[in-house]
Amino acid sequence: MPFERYSGKFYRLLHPRPTLVILTSCGGRLDAAPFSWNTPVSEDPPIIAVSMSRSSFTRECLRTNPEATLNVIPPEMADVAYRLGAASGRDRDKVGELGLELEPSELIGVPGLAGAAAIYESIAEGSVEVGQMDLVLFRALVVRSRAGAAGESGFLLEVTNLALHGAGDEFFRVDPRSLRASPTPT
Ligand SMILES: Cc1cc2nc3c(=O)[nH]c(=O)nc-3n(C[C@H](O)[C@H](O)[C@H](O)COP(=O)(O)O)c2cc1C
Repeated sequence: MPFERYSGKFYRLLHPRPTLVILTSCGGRLDAAPFSWNTPVSEDPPIIAVSMSRSSFTRECLRTNPEATLNVIPPEMADVAYRLGAASGRDRDKVGELGLELEPSELIGVPGLAGAAAIYESIAEGSVEVGQMDLVLFRALVVRSRAGAAGESGFLLEVTNLALHGAGDEFFRVDPRSLRASPTPT
């Protein structure tokens, strides 16, 4: 079948993508916001890059306190993620208003989300300016998954699925059926 020029926003065809809800704390206040432009970029050291609008409160907050938890969210938290993305923590206490349950961290002062599928306790170690975005580099200090929800190869999707962000308010689950790639031509 021939191709056709795609007329939507260029990045739409790079979605759906896993969503991280990032918790930060500065000036005595906790903030939380979703970020779906995220990816691991180095195994050693363990670094996760997140593309953040420079105008977000999360980005601003990281300049005073670089500690953050990167929370991988399950489908049940899609509503929460969407609502957290619709307002800025600069004007509101989103965590309090949404009554988010928190999970104490092991190594840093910023908590995780009790409802997360996994929590990366992290510290922002640097950033790269890209247009109006900052690609923020987080070093993972501790990685925890919900008990019984993950094995060596990652999430056990029948136990905990993930909320992949499509566009706007649309999220997807991951199809738990795996495709085994064949190493040899058949
Ligand atoms: C599902 C979802 C994913 C998002 N991903 C990103 C992202 O990767 N980068 C970004 O800068 N903003 C992203 N946003 C928008 C921010 O979450 C939004 O600007 C938020 O209000 C920032 O909150 P803050 O000012 O409290 O940090 C996303 C929004 C939603 C709903």
